[in-house]
Amino acid sequence: MAKSTKSTGDVPPVNMDEFPLSKVFHLFEPGPVVLVTTANKGRANIMTMSWHMMLEFEPPLIGCCLSAGNFSFAALRKTGECVIAIPTVEMASKVVEIGNCSGQDVDKFDVFGLTPVPAQQVEPPLVAECFANIECRVADTKMVNKYNLFILEAVKAWTDPKHEERRTIHANGDGTFVVDGRTINLKNKMVKWKDML
Ligand SMILES: Cc1cc2nc3c(=O)[nH]c(=O)nc-3n(C[C@H](O)[C@H](O)[C@H](O)COP(=O)(O)O)c2cc1C
Repeated sequence: MAKSTKSTGDVPPVNMDEFPLSKVFHLFEPGPVVLVTTANKGRANIMTMSWHMMLEFEPPLIGCCLSAGNFSFAALRKTGECVIAIPTVEMASKVVEIGNCSGQDVDKFDVFGLTPVPAQQVEPPLVAECFANIECRVADTKMVNKYNLFILEAVKAWTDPKHEERRTIHANGDGTFVVDGRTINLKNKMVKWKDML
């Protein structure tokens, strides 16, 4: 009979401390921290978001988790459009502040001195101060009610060639952030994916 590889009883696996399940997201938080703009009845809003993931290459699909209590959630659900703007490290404090107030109470573009730039395919604006902007449409709402999870399709993407800073910020989930560091080039090992590099 095969021997079980599961640890027995209350003994933790060797060299491991138990980590609280309620904090698992601290270990798994994806990056980078991004901004999401929406527009509802001509009024633009912006929120901070770190819970997102790529789901498909072509067309590019992105899964995004927006809490139902957020002003942005209602706008995205209603209009089906948003822009994901990618800030770099010099905007870090502002990015956190944007995620600590609501468009229900304030005009965040005004309060945080952000410059809205008209997008090409969608109503919500790009953010001039961000190095990249991705225009998105909601492609699937099947998981919104259960998980607040929107599946977005990127329909247009822009980068600012004059924006020299490229280091993004990554949330640890506890108010601390990791800033992009050294880049290592392992392209010669990416043999299976060479056509996509
Ligand atoms: C670093 C950081 C990451 C965040 N990530 C998310 C996220 O992934 N999803 C979410 O719903 N809210 C997230 N928030 C919280 C929203 O940005 C916040 O609730 C914001 O006030 C919503 O603004 P709104 O009411 O104008 O939409 C995050 C906040 C911070 C500071």
